[in-house]
Amino acid sequence: MRIAMIGTGYVGLVSGACFSEFGVHVCCVDKDAEKIERLKRGEIPIYEPGLDDLVARNVAAGRLSFTLDLKEAMQGVDAVFIAVGTPTRRGDGHADLSYVYAAAEEIAANLDHYTVVVTKSTVPVGTGREVESIIRRVRPAAEFDVASNPEFLREGSAIGDFMRPDRVVIGAGSERAAEVMRRLYRPLYLIETPIVLTSLETAELTKYAANTFLAAKITFINEIADLCEKVGADVHDVARGIGLDGRIGKKFLHPGPGYGGSCFPKDTLALVRTAQQVGSPLRIIETVVDINDKRKKAMAERIVAACGGSVEGRTVAVLGVTFKPNTDDMRDSPSLDIIPALQKAGAHVRAFDPAGMHEAARLLPGVEWAKDAYGTLQDADCVAILTEWNEFRALDLKRVKASLKRPVMVDLRNIYNPEDMVRAGFSYSSIGRPG
Ligand code: UGA
Repeated sequence: MRIAMIGTGYVGLVSGACFSEFGVHVCCVDKDAEKIERLKRGEIPIYEPGLDDLVARNVAAGRLSFTLDLKEAMQGVDAVFIAVGTPTRRGDGHADLSYVYAAAEEIAANLDHYTVVVTKSTVPVGTGREVESIIRRVRPAAEFDVASNPEFLREGSAIGDFMRPDRVVIGAGSERAAEVMRRLYRPLYLIETPIVLTSLETAELTKYAANTFLAAKITFINEIADLCEKVGADVHDVARGIGLDGRIGKKFLHPGPGYGGSCFPKDTLALVRTAQQVGSPLRIIETVVDINDKRKKAMAERIVAACGGSVEGRTVAVLGVTFKPNTDDMRDSPSLDIIPALQKAGAHVRAFDPAGMHEAARLLPGVEWAKDAYGTLQDADCVAILTEWNEFRALDLKRVKASLKRPVMVDLRNIYNPEDMVRAGFSYSSIGRPG
């Protein structure tokens, strides 16, 4: 089989590379000439474990290629995937669909045989139908169908999520389109992955429902964590105690500084706007958005409190700035709220991140960037862990203590054990645990 993938961002590049690993011929298209040149040279523009090898292997096998030319990419394809960005539209919180619609226009101009046009980007309900009518308007006689095939991969574990998903959701506009999609995902049928075959609208909404549900789950445990602190309970035990109930499930019950990233903040807001627009408000998600925004901002206050109520003239060492580990992505990272608030309160911030510093340096002026974790600590008044990179999980505590001016640690990811930290002589605070 043969497909074209429009957009070489996270979803496009990972999905394209993974489909080629399934044996499909994939041509990835992007308008960014520099990016395409880099990809052709084998350079991967994002940090994603395993992606470089996967791309190199499939390029060498002749199944994966990159081009600026959509016409060339669409030659003889069974399907063309739209995997362009759908960022938050300035001013109103809706998803900005201009890239999706521009891609639809260009696809229309190049259709010359039956093709399934698939949206893989996260798009509001109704976008697939709009893509269909754009193409129909430009090319009334063209042979095509539209489909929606939302992606559920997580940054940092994207390849595993694509290759061994919990399910695949396909919204198909016709049986012919459904058949093409089934053939594309054939390797997953062999490992008995459930395929949810549904209408376009249902598939589009399913993606938002999944992300907003997970965002609500995280926000729930974050509020329970706050309550635990007030009543002397341990949020990890509560999470385990409820998560073992199969109806609740263990995952996404880890408390922290609030969810970030390129998806949850954008998708919660977009679904809230869609729901308001059609007169069926999602009040739970409206509250989730509000709580999470406030939570990220409130995290700086915890650090100030741990420093005795003021950080004026003090140095705060920050470990981790990306929104989660194993990515260099800074989008909506809690660090973007926390670090400026600390600076505003008079602190000097020295920070280190294994992958995100390049982008972070652009977004966080005035931060002193260290070469490694220990390099951040020298004579600092406090260390705050903002991202749970593995390399921060087993620091030499004696060395940490000797480097800091005061042995104060604020662990916003709960990667250390409170008892161990107290025994090691730290003033230690974490989220939702006694001690
Ligand atoms: C998320 C979804 O998990 C994917 O299924 C989805 O495909 C993707 O969005 C998308 O729409 O493209 P991602 O944003 O990569 O994936 O990262 P997650 O692992 O879901 O983490 C999101 C945020 O929630 C992070 O800030 C993380 O620290 C936070 N989180 C996650 C918690 O605070 N606690 C948890 O228990 C889990």
